[in-house]
Amino acid sequence: MNHHRTGTLRHSTLSDWQMVENYRKGVSIGADQDLAPVGIAGTCSGPGLLKQQTEKRGPMLIYNELKKDQDQVKEMMTRIEEMSSRASTSKVRLFEEMKAALTAHLRAEEKVFYDALKREKGAHNSALEGWEEHHVADVLMREIARLSPNDEKWTAKFTVLKETVEHHVQEEEGEIWAQAQAIFDEARAQDLGEAFVAEKEKLLAKAG
Ligand SMILES: [Fe+2]
Ligand SMILES: [Fe+2]
Repeated sequence: MNHHRTGTLRHSTLSDWQMVENYRKGVSIGADQDLAPVGIAGTCSGPGLLKQQTEKRGPMLIYNELKKDQDQVKEMMTRIEEMSSRASTSKVRLFEEMKAALTAHLRAEEKVFYDALKREKGAHNSALEGWEEHHVADVLMREIARLSPNDEKWTAKFTVLKETVEHHVQEEEGEIWAQAQAIFDEARAQDLGEAFVAEKEKLLAKAG
């Protein structure tokens, strides 16, 4: 049975998976153009998980996926910074949430994005430096987790962590992505995006 032939779909009802497939094939669909089957027959049962992952998403370019996490983590850090240390329980909870999100982001980014960059002459050193900045963030997060938010060192370490992460993200979104965009074409950027999301979800499920 071919699920894609049942009924006529319009652009507005295209699933994101189909959008991704079309994007990959370079198919552009006008707003009122009927959707022809996109040629993923036989994959209906297979990519169920991937389909769920691509629900409500556009093409998964690595940069979009990284940016979503980076914005989220920066926003969480600002919220933590604004919390009084008297609200220690909720402050610790939010810190732990941020730590889990950032740790999964760092590991998946290293395994998928930095590992690919490291193999390229033009980005090798940047990848290695990025890796070291991740290491600094890991050490600080571990140390903060052992302290009470009432300890003055908690705030000092958190401030340094926040500055380190912000500086790191600024370099990534600037210089490192510019290097990556010069090296990886769009299809590769999409493959990396999909691999990054899959890896991160695996890590989050394990940590869960
Ligand atoms: Fe990142
Ligand atoms: Fe990073």
